[in-house]
Amino acid sequence: MRIDILTVIPEIVEGAVNNSILKKAQENNTATIQIHSLREYSEDRFNRIDDYAYSAGAGMVLKIEPVYKAINHLKSQREYDEIIYTSPDGERLTQKISNQLSTYKNIIILCGHYKGIDQRIRDHLVTREISIGDYVLTGGELAAAVIADSVVRLLPGAMGDETSALTDSFQDGLLAPPVYTRPAEFNGWKVPEILLSGNDALIEEWKLQQAIDRTRSLRPDLYKQFDDEQ
Ligand code: ADE
Repeated sequence: MRIDILTVIPEIVEGAVNNSILKKAQENNTATIQIHSLREYSEDRFNRIDDYAYSAGAGMVLKIEPVYKAINHLKSQREYDEIIYTSPDGERLTQKISNQLSTYKNIIILCGHYKGIDQRIRDHLVTREISIGDYVLTGGELAAAVIADSVVRLLPGAMGDETSALTDSFQDGLLAPPVYTRPAEFNGWKVPEILLSGNDALIEEWKLQQAIDRTRSLRPDLYKQFDDEQ
């Protein structure tokens, strides 16, 4: 899978996508993540990419030309399944959306800009708007990194077997059960007896029950959805 991220501040995205699992996924060619600075597409001799809004008091707005040029350049090289704009106005990111995006071959993520972008970009170039939650960030870079992270980790080959994305919280509509490692006792705090029993079937049953109990008490909204679907 290939993800092209268009941004005014590449540095914010770089740290997030060039470490840990996302770095590994790029090294083993599971994913390609290209970060593009919109300034490189500026048609202005001062490399400006924003301008005053027509309406007073709205601040600086990301101009249409550099975005149009960057998207056209990418589209001339390959077909894109989706051109995503990160914005608090968008549909809320869920595991289901990340799962869907992970089946795509090529996507572009256009990072939102603090005072907005020319509406014509959203009307004519963007195919989907995604929010990572009901709060406002200073820019869309962190949101783009969240989307890229949640998608790439799902790709076959991105993670080793022992940390399969299939056992994540939310993947089956439930929070993940608790996990423990050695020692079996620390400070008098013990690992649940069942995990030391060696009985795989009983352990699986226990894990499911823990996941259900945790979801019911910590996220009743998720639990209701899970229960309705049973
Ligand atoms: N840009 C600013 N706030 C955002 C949010 N909550 N989600 C996605 N992009 C954003």
